[in-house]
Amino acid sequence: VGRTPLIAGNWKMNLTREQAIALASAIAATPPSGSDVALFPPAIWLTDTAAAVAGSPIKIGAQNCWSAQKGAFTGELSPAMIAEIAPLVLIGHSERRLILGESDELIRAKIDAALAAGLEVVFCVGETLETRQAGNAESHVANQVHAALDGRAVEDFDRITVAYEPVWAIGTGVAATPADAQEMSASIRTELAAIDAAYADRVRILYGGSVNAANAAELLAQPDVDGGLVGGASLVAADFLGILGAVSPGI
Ligand code: PGA
Repeated sequence: VGRTPLIAGNWKMNLTREQAIALASAIAATPPSGSDVALFPPAIWLTDTAAAVAGSPIKIGAQNCWSAQKGAFTGELSPAMIAEIAPLVLIGHSERRLILGESDELIRAKIDAALAAGLEVVFCVGETLETRQAGNAESHVANQVHAALDGRAVEDFDRITVAYEPVWAIGTGVAATPADAQEMSASIRTELAAIDAAYADRVRILYGGSVNAANAAELLAQPDVDGGLVGGASLVAADFLGILGAVSPGI
């Protein structure tokens, strides 16, 4: 269907300022071919990393935002302020859902605010091991998708990318099998088709959870897997560039 792959690095709460600038610069120095590339550095380094990739096709994003543009929300990150520096925001990552207790309602409100500020959203869904073992992975993820995306304006959909990240595969070194990643991505695309068929056809669905240079090509070869959201392997330039090379042989 001609969906351009997106490889995104989620640096989480890692890297000093100097390391962040060096990593962003190293990635920007190797222009990607065939894939779009995004980096999600810690918010405090957004300005520095945006400067480091300026002039390259790499897009920068925040790892989170709040559900309002300004006001009395001590410590929170305004979508409008992010938009002054970077075009993307990650919303609904499982670490925020599970460690910080973010609800589907809050995540929906954050997506509303991010879109209102003009940002593009990478929206994360995924099930825990317990949910998978109970046989509820697909229904759980479908609920997350519908809670966030039902009833949206058609024009907003082109600014929303979905990332499927099974919690049991994140940071464990054990990625989902390509077959599991495909099955879940296809299931998500079916749910999206019930919301908007044209969007479901165009939307990129990323896989995340222990993606590395050795498994990326096989995961991305699945028809409904359109990219990767990479944590640990995005923190070292050679590892991340190895993933880009594996999925974009032209690099
Ligand atoms: P991981 O993290 O690649 O370290 O498993 C992925 C993520 O949480 O986005």
